[in-house]
Order: sequence, then structure tokens, then C-alpha cells
Amino acid sequence: MEKRLIEASKKYIMNTYNRFPIILRKGRGMKVWDSNGKEYLDFVGGIAVNCLGHCHSKIVIALQKQAQRLLHVSNLYHIEPQIELARRLIKHSCADKAFFCNSGAEANEAAIKLARKYAKDHMSDKKFEIITAYGSFHGRTLATLSATGQEKLHKGFEPLVPGFKYVPFDDINALKKAITDNTCAVMLEPIQGEAGIKIPDKGYLKKVRELCDEKGLLLIFDEVQTGMGRTGKLFAYEHYDIEPDIFTLAKGLGGGVAIGAMLAKDKIASSFQPGSHAATFGGNPLACAAAIATIDALLEDGFIMDNCNRMGAYFRQQLDIIMGDYPSHITEIRGLGLMLGMEITSACGPIIKSCAGRGVLINCTGGNVLRFTPPLIVNEKDIDQLINILDDVISDIL
Ligand SMILES: Cc1ncc(COP(=O)(O)O)c(C=O)c1O
Repeated sequence: MEKRLIEASKKYIMNTYNRFPIILRKGRGMKVWDSNGKEYLDFVGGIAVNCLGHCHSKIVIALQKQAQRLLHVSNLYHIEPQIELARRLIKHSCADKAFFCNSGAEANEAAIKLARKYAKDHMSDKKFEIITAYGSFHGRTLATLSATGQEKLHKGFEPLVPGFKYVPFDDINALKKAITDNTCAVMLEPIQGEAGIKIPDKGYLKKVRELCDEKGLLLIFDEVQTGMGRTGKLFAYEHYDIEPDIFTLAKGLGGGVAIGAMLAKDKIASSFQPGSHAATFGGNPLACAAAIATIDALLEDGFIMDNCNRMGAYFRQQLDIIMGDYPSHITEIRGLGLMLGMEITSACGPIIKSCAGRGVLINCTGGNVLRFTPPLIVNEKDIDQLINILDDVISDIL
């Protein structure tokens, strides 16, 4: 049965992912079960998506209620759950207005378009260039792929969308040098996820903000991976005591339901007018109902955010202990909150495979970094279970 389904998956689904031969069928909290009934502790969490764990009752109930009331209406009309979601995001962020879409790439695509439009409206026609960082990941649409500073991902899709320039991440002088009369914005992930959980130096993002202010450039933060509590604050920019002009969300926003958002200050947002940008499903009632339930649960009594900080610190401590035992194989532990990475000197594949065999799901980023993005409800017992298995696997493999 399982073998036949996997064969059908290979036959009918385009080969864009290297998939494990596992069919996940059911999930609750930190756990998922495969088609053989095998249980796994999920430290992937849909790659920073399932922030409340699998099938959180508040999300499920919100979806059930909304599904009975209204599934979809066009953005030609005002949509109640969309208004309520925007109200919450704006209340808890530096933004004044939201645009809703369906994914991280779409949110970044909207941010790129808004920055260009704002520059045309308020700066000059020649200002269209956006500076991004090497190692960045902003999505797979042609514009967001062009914004992504990873040559290996560009291969085969050229010519790219013009107007993007890359600089080394965490290097303020390189950024300074790259700014020209054509530059309209700087777009960065506050913590680079796909590059291998790269955290910039404490003062870097503040200097970037100052530089953007000095040169009259927009600062866009891609918080698709870092947003919705992942780093221990609702949005990662809050760690750095600065505010972006535009920021984007997706992944954790719907707690497992597809939704993206691009948020901006009023003056910038007003460059979008009817006809400038749109998305049929953007801010769909069903997706917004899930996102409202997610943000309400995240902020309800501070418990989940507090848990993210406490468990993030505990997890890191345990990973540091493992690193101490394998100093020549593990080069660094880094991250913030529950966005953690362990850089190793060998390939991640065999470790991930062996962990899955023993009932723990983790994944890899940046080629040689084991990435841990569990639901923010993870507890010490779950972390201990992962650490014991990881320690065993590493001692067998490294
Ligand atoms: C920082 C960042 N931006 C954008 C994206 C693209 O998001 P999506 O896959 O929802 O289009 C990702 C996905 O990994 C991401 O990590």
C-alpha cells in the first residue's frame, strides 16, 4: 500500500523535492504518524509553519466554524476575518496596512512591487534597484528568485528579473558601497534561514536602518521564516530595536494553512491603489480564520511565546553539550528562540535519515546545518528525546 502510494507520488507529482519514503498521515501537537502507524517527534514543523503544533484545537475549530459560514468571496467585497487579522497584525507590529496573499514568495513579490512603485511615486523613475544579501532566500517566483542571492538556484532560469544586486550579509561597508542612484530599497532576512540560520552581528541591522534613512531607501524585512514568534518575539525585527518600512510574513502565519502577508507603513502602502496589485485568494476568509486563531493563541496569555524563549534556551544548552562532545565534527550552534541550527563538518543526509528511522524528524539547511524549527509548544521532554537520539546517531555516524 505504502510502496504503491510512493510510486504513484513519483508518477503523478513533479519531481521538485527530494522526499523521504514516508507518508505522514496524522498529527497532534508535536507528533506525527506515518501510514504504518509509526510515530515521530516533529522538529521540522513544516519548516517553521506549524507554530502551534499539529491540528491545534483552536485552529481546527476556527476552520470548522468559518467553513460552515463562508469559504470564499472575492476581494471586491470587504471580508470580516481579513479585517480582524489585519487589525491584530497592525496592533502588534510597526505596520499600518496589510496586503494578504498565499505564500512567502507572493508576499515578497508584493513587497518588491510596492518598493518599486513607491520609488516611482516619491523618488525618481531611475530608482528601481533592490539590494539583497548573498545566501538569502526570498522565494521561487521569478522576481523573488532574482532577489535571492544564491547563484545555484538561478541556474537554468535566466534571464533573471533585472534590478537586484547582492552584497555579503552582515557587512555594512559592502552595503554602503553597493548603493547607487538607482537603489530604492534594501531587502534582508533579519536571520537568514536557508543560508544555514545566519544571525547578523548585533549592530548590523541597526546600521542598515540608519544607512537606509540617510540615503532615503526603504528597508524591507523578509520575516517569512523568522516571523510569528519563531525567534522568541512576534517579529524578529523587535530584537534589534528598529522598524522596517515593509515586512513580509507567511509560514507560521496560518499555523499550517496557506496564507502570506505584506505589511507596510501608511505612506508607503498608499502607493498601491486599485489595479496595482491583487490576489484572488489573498485574505480568503478560511485562511484568515486560521491565522486569527493562530495569532490569538500565540499572544493569548504569553504562555507560548514564553515557552519559545525558555525551550529555545534549554534546547540550545543541550545542543551545546553535544557540540562539546564532538568538537571536530560540530562547528557551531546558532539561532534565536526556536530557530536553531547545528553546523557540522559532514553531510546532513545520513544523520537526518537515521534520526527519522529512530522517530525524530529534523531537516537540513545551507548544505551542512541541521535545522530545528519545532512547534513553539515543544517541551523539555520532547527536546530530551531528540537530544538523546541525535547524540546516539552522531556518535554512530561521525
Ligand atoms: C525567508 C523566506 N522567504 C521566503 C520564502 C518562500 O516562502 P514560500 O515557500 O511560502 O513561497 C521562504 C521559504 O522557505 C523563506 O524561508
